[in-house]
Amino acid sequence: MLEKRKKKAPLPLQIFGKDEFLAMAERNAKPYRQLMSFYRCAAMEIETKFRVLDEELSLESEHNPIESIKTRIKSVDSLVRKMNRKNIPLDIKSIEENIYDIAGVRVICSFPEDIYFLEECLLKQDDITLIERKDYIASPKPGGYRSLHLIVEVPIFLQNEKRPMKVEVQLRTIAMDFWASLEHKLRYKKNLDEALLEALQKELLDCSNKSAELDLRMEAVRKQIESFR
Ligand code: GTP
Ligand code: MG
Repeated sequence: MLEKRKKKAPLPLQIFGKDEFLAMAERNAKPYRQLMSFYRCAAMEIETKFRVLDEELSLESEHNPIESIKTRIKSVDSLVRKMNRKNIPLDIKSIEENIYDIAGVRVICSFPEDIYFLEECLLKQDDITLIERKDYIASPKPGGYRSLHLIVEVPIFLQNEKRPMKVEVQLRTIAMDFWASLEHKLRYKKNLDEALLEALQKELLDCSNKSAELDLRMEAVRKQIESFR
C-alpha cells in the first residue's frame, strides 16, 4: 500500500526568507550538512541502479532504454519556497519528514514503454520501497505535462547504520523532457501579456498532445524494426 501523505491541519501562515533559512542551516551546520550529504548518497544509489539496468539491458537486447540521467539536490531557493507553500516549520527534522523531493533523479528514456519497464525493474528490487506514484503519462496534467513520478525510499549504508532516504524519480521520454523544459521557461515569464499567455498555453497543450502522438508512432516504428530482426 502506498503511504498516504498526512494532511496537516492548517496552521497560521509562517513566512520565512532565504536568510532565515540559511541562519537555521548555520546554527545546525552539522546535522544540516549531514542530511544534505545523505540525500546526495541516496540520489547516487538510485542513479547507479538505473545505470546498472541500462548496462544489463544493452547487453541483452542491444537497446539502451536510457538516453540520459540528471541527478540534482533541491536548491535552497526552491526548498524555501516549498516550505513556505506547505507551511513546514523551519527545522531539520521537519524538512526530512515533509519534503520528499530533496534528492531528485530524472531518467530520460527513448520510448514510453521503456519508462514502465524501468519502473518495474526498479520497484522489484528488494531494497526499494515505493512511497508515492503519480502517472502523468496516463493522466497528463491539464497544462499538458507528462512524466511518471515515483517517490521511493532507498537505504544508504553508513559506517554504523543503514538509513532509509526518500528520492523523487521522474521518468520521461526525450519528447516529454523537451516539452517540460520549454514550458518551465514560460512559467517564469510572468510579465507576458494575458492574452498572449493564454494563447501560448493553448499552443503548448497542443504541442504536448502532438508529441505524445509522435512518441507512440516512434515506438511503433521501433517495434516493427525489432520484429523484423
Ligand atoms: P509538490 O508537493 O511540490 O511535490 O507538489 P506535487 O507533488 O503536486 O508536484 P508533482 O509531483 O506533481 O511535481 C513535482 C515536479 O514535477 C516539479 O518540481 C517539476 O519538476 C515537475 N512538474 C510537475 N508539473 C509540471 C509542469 O506542469 N510543468 C513542468 N515543466 N514541470 C512540472
Ligand atoms: Mg511532489
